[in-house]
Amino acid sequence: MKLTYFGHSCFLVEGGGQKVLFDPFIRPNPLAGSVKVSQIEADWVLLSHGHVDHVADVVELANQTGAPVIANWEICEWLGRQGLKNLVAMNHGGTKRLGFGSVKMTNAIHSSTLPDGSAGGNPGGYVVGMPEGAFYYSGDTALTMDMKLIPEEFSIRFAVLPIGDNFTMGAGDAVRAARFVDTNIVVGVHYGTFPPIEIDPGEALGIFEKAGLTLLLPAIGETIEL
Ligand code: NI
Ligand code: MN
Repeated sequence: MKLTYFGHSCFLVEGGGQKVLFDPFIRPNPLAGSVKVSQIEADWVLLSHGHVDHVADVVELANQTGAPVIANWEICEWLGRQGLKNLVAMNHGGTKRLGFGSVKMTNAIHSSTLPDGSAGGNPGGYVVGMPEGAFYYSGDTALTMDMKLIPEEFSIRFAVLPIGDNFTMGAGDAVRAARFVDTNIVVGVHYGTFPPIEIDPGEALGIFEKAGLTLLLPAIGETIEL
């Protein structure tokens, strides 16, 4: 599987012959000025929750790519009011089989109000199954015991977890989350974008190294093989 990082919590995973884009927040991100939104290709767009730093570019990218957007019921209702028609509404615990494999919506402890103040339902994450393997994107969340359920069902090849602290887990809890889902490889996201989530990446790398786990911090625009 290939993962391309577009900054904050926006990334694209290629697997099963398809491209799956998560939480597009690019144009308002001052750190992602090098990313050309008009050049992004996607077969699917997945949203973890309704906060603007996860949905800012979703309407433009859905229109540009024609990709269906997968999100919780309330976010899909809101996207419908923005003129999008190709929507796949889910809720926690549900699994959807798609062209590349499957997605299961998981719990997150966070909030989810949409940019215009509309109710965004409850925040979530996803376990994505592809022919090459499964991975877990937690979305914005605290560490939660629910994560322990994931390895009962899936063999997680890597997890994409927030490490910026303040609004979500920090690196220390991300180590515990990696243990909960039983993976050694974490791609760190949701850090550095705004002052409240500025962290020392070297310190985060050290926390993972000490725990015997690998933290990957791809540069914005970089593609890594997983
Ligand atoms: Ni959030
Ligand atoms: Mn966020």
